[in-house]
Amino acid sequence: MFITFEGLDGSGKTTQVKELTSALRAQGHQVLLTREPGGTEIGDRIREILQDKANTAMTAQAELLLFCASRAQIVAEVIRPHLDGGGIVICDRFADSTIAYQGYGRGIELDLLYAIIRFATGGLQPDLTLYLDITPEEGIARRQQASLFGEEFSRIDQMALEFHRRVQQGYLALMAAEPGRWLRIDAAQPSAAVQADIRAALTAQAGMAF
Ligand code: TYD
Repeated sequence: MFITFEGLDGSGKTTQVKELTSALRAQGHQVLLTREPGGTEIGDRIREILQDKANTAMTAQAELLLFCASRAQIVAEVIRPHLDGGGIVICDRFADSTIAYQGYGRGIELDLLYAIIRFATGGLQPDLTLYLDITPEEGIARRQQASLFGEEFSRIDQMALEFHRRVQQGYLALMAAEPGRWLRIDAAQPSAAVQADIRAALTAQAGMAF
């Protein structure tokens, strides 16, 4: 089973996937948790380039190919072998992020993106995708709050509200196109309620027990 989490920056995915992974492991499941970009030695180095605020000259094309290079590596090196071994893979962002951010956010042609993504992933697609839903305004407010406690804004984090609105539109379009794969979770709730909703959704949709 390949489960991905998507959402705007500040939607709280990272906290939620960690909690979910611990709960599933406690049930005896073989769970691999990864994040994009990164998750492999090569991918983590690509991640540093992508996040570095000094890289103001990075073109949208270079950015796209770096995300997809990191993805090609993690699919081949980590995700496919784990799935082949019968385990559960939970990924904090996957190809839908590329459609939402590089497609809707940056305006790269969608057909082109789908072809590059297919090349990078060999056609691997998530069985289920959970969308942690918050407004772009809430996402920015949360990240500003986090930055008061020392968390740095990354290169993409600091994009304007308008950019994040387009990304949200992208996610809404993806969900509408493939309603059977997506589960929408209200991520504006307190963290514990979000986690409870995630587990309830996975129980209902995939028969997972917690
Ligand atoms: P990260 O710190 O992992 O953010 P988050 O915790 O919100 O996932 O940074 C990932 C950033 O990269 C985030 O702003 C989304 C963006 N991104 C893309 O633009 N395209 C992609 O294909 C992926 C995977 C991420």
